[in-house]
Amino acid sequence: MTTTWSIREVPVSQTTDAPEAWLLHGYTGAMNDCLLAAWGHRDFERTATEILGSMHDQTYESKPRLVAVADDAHDAPDPDRVLGYAMINLPLQDNTHTGHVEVGVRPPYRRQGVGSALFDAGLALVRDAGRSQVTASTDQHTEPPEGPGTLAATTGAGRVAVDEDGPRFLLARGFALEQVDRYSVFDLPFDPELIAKHHAEAEAHAGPDYRLVTWQSHVPEEWVDEYALLNTRMSTDAPLGGLDLEEDVWEAERIRTYEKQYEERGLPLLVLAAEHVPTHTLAAFTCFMPIPNSDEFVHQTDTLVLKEHRGKRLGMLVKTANLQRLAAERPAVRRVGTWNAEENSYMLAINVALGFRPAGGSGEWQLKLS
Ligand SMILES: CC(C)(COP(=O)(O)OP(=O)(O)OC[C@H]1O[C@@H](n2cnc3c(N)ncnc32)[C@H](O)[C@@H]1OP(=O)(O)O)[C@@H](O)C(=O)NCCC(=O)NCCS
Repeated sequence: MTTTWSIREVPVSQTTDAPEAWLLHGYTGAMNDCLLAAWGHRDFERTATEILGSMHDQTYESKPRLVAVADDAHDAPDPDRVLGYAMINLPLQDNTHTGHVEVGVRPPYRRQGVGSALFDAGLALVRDAGRSQVTASTDQHTEPPEGPGTLAATTGAGRVAVDEDGPRFLLARGFALEQVDRYSVFDLPFDPELIAKHHAEAEAHAGPDYRLVTWQSHVPEEWVDEYALLNTRMSTDAPLGGLDLEEDVWEAERIRTYEKQYEERGLPLLVLAAEHVPTHTLAAFTCFMPIPNSDEFVHQTDTLVLKEHRGKRLGMLVKTANLQRLAAERPAVRRVGTWNAEENSYMLAINVALGFRPAGGSGEWQLKLS
């Protein structure tokens, strides 16, 4: 039987138990079904509270969320009626030339036109906002070896399989594969002697000019401007492949806005930075983000060493120190997951030396709009 559906916008409700929040629960459920189908594990599972917290803060990005809802004569408020979702992000401060669209359809409802309808509705919002390009991502459980049926990123580093649903969908719409990211996982508990050895070597190399500073979630006032600068530099110092993105400027006010957003979403940030003592500035940082629904998994989010401080093993220094801190503060953690551009050989080399293992990745796609 053919299902008919309508596209609706997810309302930004006050709370997750508001009557209209059934669409938010359907959106969350559809996204989690797609994540489980793509990865075969629940480490990326999202919660409605965390998603709604993100929707509540649209200071720096506009975030329309769409769902395809199976038609029903009584319009029952049943989250299972949601067949698929579209997440649209439109930057409002920098990068206002671009928009990001992510579409997912619950596996039993694929190949009926639901994904196309959601994508078209998302693209219309990107065009209406005056954007000249759109980006999208596809997940892959394993990166395919070189050979027929694969497509390399325009950087030459990394590949995707062209016959997978996501790449086929985006290629049919004219997208170019501008970058491939590697997803890597580090298993805990780790060998404390090995991490201590890497740490001691990095410390000896860095010398006495660097001192470690840590905080959780709320950056001390003393460091907020420096931390904002690190975040700005993160937007351009990490490789962007062929993606046409410009510097994304952070300042203290933006840091504080995101701190409030992350608090509402139940996402702590375990930041560890290296101070360059002679200049009282921050030279490097790294961050873990635990998730609300499991004590076993954390994301390793940003890691950056400023260009002017590279070559001193500060990347290894901050990463080993934050792993030691993680083991001490959150002994239940069993896995750390991290994403790196395939062409980011310096960061990947550090991760491989520490014991991160490849566990899939993503394709990063871009389409210029005429
Ligand atoms: C990619 C994805 C969103 C497509 O969703 P979908 O609902 O299957 O999309 P559609 O049905 O509109 O189109 C997919 C295919 O079904 C075909 N199709 C559409 N209507 C059809 C119908 N009534 N009968 C048979 N086939 C149909 C389309 O022609 C298309 O075929 P193709 O891949 O050979 O070109 C879905 O596979 C998915 O959720 N994948 C995981 C997430 C992802 O990769 N997202 C893409 C990046 S944002």
